[in-house]
Order: sequence, then C-alpha cells, then structure tokens
Amino acid sequence: MGIQTKITGTGHYVPPRVVTNFDLEKLMDTSDEWIRQRSGIQSRHHVEPGTGASDLAYEASLKAINAAGIDKGEIDFIIAATLSPDHYFPGIGVIVQAKLGINPTGALDVRNQCSGFIYALSVADQYIRSGMYKKILLVAAEVQSSNLEFSDDGRDMAVLFGDGGGAVILEPAEGQGQGILSTHLFSDGNFVQELWMDAPSPMDKPTFTHAIIDSKRYLPKMNGRNVFVNAVQRMPEAVWAGLEHNGLSIDDVDHLIPHQANDRISLMVAKKLGIPVEKVIRNIDRFGNTTAASIPIALDETLRAGRIKEGDLVVLTAFGSGFTWASAIIRW
Ligand code: COA
Repeated sequence: MGIQTKITGTGHYVPPRVVTNFDLEKLMDTSDEWIRQRSGIQSRHHVEPGTGASDLAYEASLKAINAAGIDKGEIDFIIAATLSPDHYFPGIGVIVQAKLGINPTGALDVRNQCSGFIYALSVADQYIRSGMYKKILLVAAEVQSSNLEFSDDGRDMAVLFGDGGGAVILEPAEGQGQGILSTHLFSDGNFVQELWMDAPSPMDKPTFTHAIIDSKRYLPKMNGRNVFVNAVQRMPEAVWAGLEHNGLSIDDVDHLIPHQANDRISLMVAKKLGIPVEKVIRNIDRFGNTTAASIPIALDETLRAGRIKEGDLVVLTAFGSGFTWASAIIRW
C-alpha cells in the first residue's frame, strides 16, 4: 500500500449573528413549526455586510492549522470550495492565501456546490498519494444569506440556507491503512436546472441588465421535491459504492457524516442504509444548510466533542446542485 492521506487538523467558523426561525417569521409568511418539521432547522448564522466567504474561510483555516500543529508557512497547496465566492473572479483560494500571508503556492478553486468538500478532498487525496504535496489546506466556506430573498416569494429557499466555513489540513498518514481509504464522485448534468443560479451568465449579452434583475434570475432556484427524492437515493448509493470498494459493510461504519441539507433527508438516508441514527452526525438545527461547508463543520464539531476515536470508520456523503453526489471512506 502506498501513501495514504490523513486529516491532521480541522476547524470551523460561523459568523456571530444567529438568525432564528422566529426572526424569519417577522420577514415572511413562514413559521418556526413549518421550518422545523420540514427541515429540522431552528437557527442559522448570517454574515454582516462586508463579510465574504474568504473571511469565514480564513477563520476556519486558522483553527485547522492550529489543530494540526503546523506552521502556516508549511502549507504547500490550497484548495477552496464554495458556490458563493467573494467575486465573480478570481476564486477565494488566492484571497485566503493572501489573508493567511502564505507565500505563493498553488490555490485551486472547486465548484461542486454541496458536494464541493468531498470533490476537493478527492483532489487533495490524489496529490498527497502521488507525493506532489505534503501539507494541503482544504477550506470550504459559504455566504448564502446575501443572495436569498427574505420575503414571501423567496421563503422556500431563504429558510434553508446558512453561512459558515470549515477547513481541514491534509498530510501523508504515518500508519498503514490509516486515512482516506477512497473517494467516489458522481454527477448527472441533466439535472442542472433543478437547483441552480441562472444569472449572471455571459450567455446574456450584456451579462448585467435591469431586465435580469427584474426577472430575479440571479436568485438560486430549486425544485425542492426532486432534490429531496434524488438526495435520498444518491447519497446511499455513493456510500454503498465506497463500502463495497473497500470490502466493508454498513455495520463497520462508526460515524456517518452526511451533507446537512435537511434533517429529514439525513434520517431517510440513514434508514435506507440501515445505520443506527446515533451514528449519524446531525447539526443542521443550528447551522441550516451551509452547502460546501456543512461536512467540514460537522466533522470539526464531532472531533472536538471527542466522538471520533483512532481506528473509527468515518463515512462522508454529499448531494447537491449539478446534480453531483459523492462519498469518502476514512479510517481515523
Ligand atoms: N414556510 C412556509 N411554507 C412554505 C415555505 C416556508 N418557508 N416554503 C414553502 N412553503 C410552502 C409552499 O409554498 C407550498 O405551499 P402550497 O402547497 O400551498 O403550494 C408548501 O409549503 C410546500 O410544501 P411541501 O411540498 O409539502 O414541502 P416539502 O415537504 O416538500 O418541503 C422542502 C419542502 C424544500 C423543505 C423539501 O422539498 C426539501 O427539503 N427539499 C430538498 C431541499 C434541499 O435539501 N436542498 C439543498 C440540497 S443540497
């Protein structure tokens, strides 16, 4: 067996402002009861104006660097995953690099929405396995609240999403059989319009017009039912693919960390997989759906709570816009 990749440090950061379901009741025709029943969410965090995904990424990165016990100058590659970058271009990888004050190094941006963390983890894993890089910072962060409509028209989306960032440091594992065992990535672009943000688009000439703003094409749109149906099908499939690849069964799994899209989705995924719900990490009640950041936030919380022990089998799975879905099988 060659080099394997280990997560040696984790961190997360959410902006201080907590927005409860009751706060949202004041802005739109919704209720705490509806939101909790349909999604399990009770509150989420929102940034103040002027804060970007790179700011959340920076804070989460510092914590992960600290947890790994490395000097930030040792980082030899950065991967950043977000669907809500500070700017149309460049991506936030280079901005995080500059904020951290790290000398020029490669900075790659991954755009796979809710599956972004696992896609990025897969890329990082290949670099470590090949020996190309030795200390990779992988950070995922989202500012969703700036592009949601807090009114009756936007209520289906506005109540579900939150802001936050999570980061991990990846290094070659010292022990054999330890670390990321495998990653499994999938997509089906026939579903692009089921969960997407149509504009701004260079296909509109010019890209920015009042008509586009008036049509609200710049707001994220979702076919909630279809996303739900596909999510509860595809995440178990990705987990089964990963377990089968490694000759493992669901009984071998100690912790399942699903992307926190909706608590009902997580519970249904658990039921389909036949894994006891106590093994499923669920924190959407306090964060909402933080897209690419949801898995590293949940991983960091679980680790810091002391729930993950050396030798445990940790399985990550995600589903989101694209559609894309993925899994990662990790021996801690
Ligand atoms: N508050 C109150 N009512 C709302 C609402 C809100 N925030 N948002 C939508 N509604 C209303 C709709 O207008 C609709 O009303 P109508 O039946 O009068 O037209 C009704 O609630 C929809 O109810 P229903 O279809 O039963 O909702 P649901 O059980 O399908 O739940 C979602 C809706 C969005 C929570 C659910 O489909 C879902 O979680 N989908 C996946 C979302 C997701 O995970 N996205 C990210 C993937 S990475």
